[in-house]
Amino acid sequence: MMFLWCLLVLVNLVLVSTSNSAGVEVRLTQKALEYGRQIGITSIQQKLRSMKVPDISGTEKVDPIGKVQYSFTGMQIVNLGLPKSALGLVPDTGVMLSIGQAYINLHGNWRVKYLRIIKDSGSFDLAVGELAISTTIAVMSDDTGRPTVSMTNCAATVGSVNVKFHGGTSWLYNLFSSFINKALRSALQKQICPLVADSIAEMNPHLKTLNVLAKVDQYAEIDYSMVGSPVISNTSVDLGLKGEFYNIGQHKEPPFSPTPFSLPYQDTNMLYIGVSAFSLNSAGFVYHNAGALRLYITDDMIPSGSPIRLNTRTFGAFIPQIAKMYPGLMMKLLVETVKEPIIIFEPNNMTIQASSTVTAYAIQPNSTLSSLFVLNLEGSVSANIYVTELKLAGHLTLNKMFMSLAKSYVGPFQVTSLDNIFSMVLKVAVIPKINARLQEGYPLPAIGKMQLVNSQLQVLKDYLLIGTDVQFTG
Ligand SMILES: *[C@@H]1O[C@H](CO)[C@@H](O)[C@H](O)[C@H]1NC(C)=O
Ligand SMILES: *[C@@H]1O[C@H](CO)[C@@H](O)[C@H](O)[C@H]1NC(C)=O
Ligand SMILES: *[C@@H]1O[C@H](CO)[C@@H](O)[C@H](O)[C@H]1NC(C)=O
Repeated sequence: MMFLWCLLVLVNLVLVSTSNSAGVEVRLTQKALEYGRQIGITSIQQKLRSMKVPDISGTEKVDPIGKVQYSFTGMQIVNLGLPKSALGLVPDTGVMLSIGQAYINLHGNWRVKYLRIIKDSGSFDLAVGELAISTTIAVMSDDTGRPTVSMTNCAATVGSVNVKFHGGTSWLYNLFSSFINKALRSALQKQICPLVADSIAEMNPHLKTLNVLAKVDQYAEIDYSMVGSPVISNTSVDLGLKGEFYNIGQHKEPPFSPTPFSLPYQDTNMLYIGVSAFSLNSAGFVYHNAGALRLYITDDMIPSGSPIRLNTRTFGAFIPQIAKMYPGLMMKLLVETVKEPIIIFEPNNMTIQASSTVTAYAIQPNSTLSSLFVLNLEGSVSANIYVTELKLAGHLTLNKMFMSLAKSYVGPFQVTSLDNIFSMVLKVAVIPKINARLQEGYPLPAIGKMQLVNSQLQVLKDYLLIGTDVQFTG
């Protein structure tokens, strides 16, 4: 029984680990952390400015006067600065934020009563200096596959407290100084870490906007959920995302899976996004299975200046039987993939190989289609891809094509005699249609109101690498 259970656990582990490969890798560099630090410090500064300093009051016995009642009230923060901070990576743990030489200036009122009848009051200015805050932030994946941050550690220390009293006499000042110093230290130290924790937690609603299921069009959506916890090294935070295209609503796995890949060390941009051949091949799988990779070509899609027309006269010049059997008819072609196209990334070269068929029809006067022949068409296109807004877009050009006869309804003929016609048809009718779609682009993983700036793209072996800076607006 125990043995069986162990075996089950083992099988599960193996299954989990093989399905955990990422199709898209996202890397945040030190430069991203630096940008994050600036945003974080602004937020922490606002939070700390909202600190409420409680009134302090008490009674103290002072020789020879006796009991002195005192109170400090209405303390307001008039200035707060966090001039020095650093965000560093703690491998395998998270990021560490340290703030040093912070200062807070407060203004408040003091009041005393002693010898039953003597009352005095005034105001004071208080400078809290050499404030240091050190906190560790853990980065994890939540149950929806989005990143989430939390504070795991925090320490706040107040270095110096200097008070300047207005009004009153010097013996009172000496008395106050130590009370106010102690009370204030503990009041501030108690509040700082919870406020920093709030500030860190406030990042989560933004992280929750990661488009873990990015809608593409009527056929497809992309799963950008994280496949595991982030990997934190001494130079970067790496997130593995699924990066897989799915048929909308119906998530069927393709017969291939991602090959693990790791991004090269680069640090001039904030963010590096590696998109594997697997991701794009999963798109091919979805569109092919959805029947989206089929296109009817009619004569009106051929430029009017072209001497080649989609009619039995043009085709009859190469295959005389067509002109004889179907004189004076217009024609129609159906181009459709027979299996999912395959994308190949080689350094600086992205090609797509597609196996398709072309079926040629003559259009009868009563609109019925008469099949003429079916050709196998193997095409290789080069893709030029680029980043636009938050999308990956592309443009194809035909490299080469190879045709062979699959079936003829009009007797034997030389397929090569049609090479020029079909290469023209691909160039003027098929590829522009695909390019119009590719130009609209496919969404990249994004968070909130993120904008990409200084983006560039490199095609490397088996994946493409986007290097970019980001800006958050609003
Ligand atoms: C980061 O870690 C790698 C190996 O884990 C080490 O070779 C390298 O020196 C470290 N870099 C820094 C800046 O600590
Ligand atoms: C890219 O690779 C394909 C297939 O290997 C090849 O046909 C094509 O000429 C290459 N293009 C460039 C620009 O190197
Ligand atoms: C349409 O015309 C063709 C050729 O004249 C004929 O063979 C076919 O039966 C017709 N179909 C219909 C539905 O009328």
